[in-house]
Amino acid sequence: MESKPVIESTSGVEAKGLRNRYIGTVSTEDIGKRITVCGWVSRIREHGEHLVFVDVRDYTGLIQVVGHSSVDLRSEYVVQVTGTVSARPQGTENLALTTGQVELTDTEINVLSVAEPPPFSLQDRSEVDEATRLKFRYLDLRREKMQQNLRVRAKINAAIRASMDRQGFTEVETPLLWTPTPEGAREFVVPSRLHPGSTYVLPQSPQIAKQLLMVAGFDRYYQIARCLRDEDLRADRQFEFTQLDLEASFITQRDIMGFITDAVIAASEAAGMAIDSSIGEITWKDSMDRYGVDKPDMRFGNELIDVTHVFAGTSVRALSAPCLKALVAPNSALLTRSRLDALVERAKGLGAKGLLWLRVVAGADGLQLDSPVSKFLTREEAKGLISATLASEGDIVLIVGDIWDKACQILGQLRLDLGRSQADPSEFKYVWVVDFPLFEGVDEDGKLISAHHPFTMPNEDDFFKLESDPLSVRSQSYDLVLNGWELGSGSIRVHRGDIQSRIFSLLGISEEEANSRFGFLLEAFTYGAPPHGGFAFGIDRLTALLVGEDNIREVIAFPKTQSGSDLMTGAPKSIERRVWDLLGLAVKPGKKDLS
Ligand code: AMO
Repeated sequence: MESKPVIESTSGVEAKGLRNRYIGTVSTEDIGKRITVCGWVSRIREHGEHLVFVDVRDYTGLIQVVGHSSVDLRSEYVVQVTGTVSARPQGTENLALTTGQVELTDTEINVLSVAEPPPFSLQDRSEVDEATRLKFRYLDLRREKMQQNLRVRAKINAAIRASMDRQGFTEVETPLLWTPTPEGAREFVVPSRLHPGSTYVLPQSPQIAKQLLMVAGFDRYYQIARCLRDEDLRADRQFEFTQLDLEASFITQRDIMGFITDAVIAASEAAGMAIDSSIGEITWKDSMDRYGVDKPDMRFGNELIDVTHVFAGTSVRALSAPCLKALVAPNSALLTRSRLDALVERAKGLGAKGLLWLRVVAGADGLQLDSPVSKFLTREEAKGLISATLASEGDIVLIVGDIWDKACQILGQLRLDLGRSQADPSEFKYVWVVDFPLFEGVDEDGKLISAHHPFTMPNEDDFFKLESDPLSVRSQSYDLVLNGWELGSGSIRVHRGDIQSRIFSLLGISEEEANSRFGFLLEAFTYGAPPHGGFAFGIDRLTALLVGEDNIREVIAFPKTQSGSDLMTGAPKSIERRVWDLLGLAVKPGKKDLS
């Protein structure tokens, strides 16, 4: 079977140099023309005594070439073919291909490069283990799906740039050799040869640089920025990734959300998705209450329900918790006893003290509950639970009791575990999550921890409780979520020294420490800082979602493995002792000496 063309057309790009046509553009309209194409040999079939059919492929498509068997050809040889466009004999057309009604006959085939047999089939259908794909990434990238993924990514970038340009943003490049920024992740350090013992730091994001650009009067800045974070890798995380990063002055949160909405809608359209341009909004508190996460997947319902009030006077210990959250299990019918037991274990693994499950069954006088705990419940409690959850016959109600955030988080995870398969993979549900708390908690030393970063402006209505009740202070920050993935976040920044000092002191950052870490920014703010705010979203994550991949590696040309290695180049590699010496560094005893 012939594979489909890689990209339907070249949008009018003129073929130059060694060829005068891109393969995907050849059609019945060209019959009789003599043309030259270049590409890779995809497949060879013997045909009759001296003839071979050779499928030749470039990134735009694939064409059948009728050649003479005396030419030595193998898969993945690189060829230049001159031939006459002819109609394929009746009955041999391939309507799945734009070029499927024609073939090249009377051909001259010029081998430009010979090729070893590839270590795996380049047909997309074949399953190849990921380590092999990454070791031979340049071959993996020849495959149709990877070509498409990276080309869609390029279109997304172009659409984002056009959106930014339209909205009056100026692209400015910021340094990669930088200084630490307090954004929560571990940073990659780069030892300095000219200043032995000192290092640069690769930026987690252009956060501080873009704020300085606001002080500098750039008004609206953007960058398709490479960011680097030394954190554990996951399906949605790489060491190196790309953000659309923007910052603007004299604006409100609403304005920033508008700029970003324009960019993501344009990007989605560039990837071929028609998206409703009005993106919904939910507060962080609501999101936690109803979905148990700050990045809700809104493609399916099954919201969490607060049932604390139903069991206010209960005698059941498992139900006497500060907060009780219930979930009517999606696909209850599939929950056999052993699956329920597994679910209880899963909940415990997530930190729950337990998980109660109650099956709703028909009784003599209406619905009732069937569960190991049902005999301990009063009639009112059973009725109250059924009416609060709107559960019907056959449903299973799951309950987690704990402090509010823990109960929400645990049951929110079970909602995803059980319901994700219900979500329509072709649906794209963006949502803004707003009114995040300013602080996400306290560390083991009792110091507050920023939920976003220390430059985030508190909600003006909550200023008065910054010192008295800091954990209840909301911030002017907002996230954009797509199908349960955090796509991006941003905030209105603190531009006034007095507010910044209050926040540093709440975070336990002394004036001295603040000055040594980012004194340059604080100093800049003394020279006339406009009120400003910004946002950044992950282009790798957006692209992965839009092309239907569940790992961002599939939309990155040369990604790292889960353990941070590059299987193709072998990086990270040991370096010679003389390089350590040049940098004034040595590996500590006990650490693996890489030299
Ligand atoms: P934040 O840290 O939330 O905000 O990052 C913004 C977005 O960048 C993407 N992202 C990643 N993508 C892949 N791999 C990673 N390791 C990774 N880390 C982050 C995510 C994330 O939502 N300076 C602030 C933005 C601002 O306030 O303007 C920032 O970087 O999609």
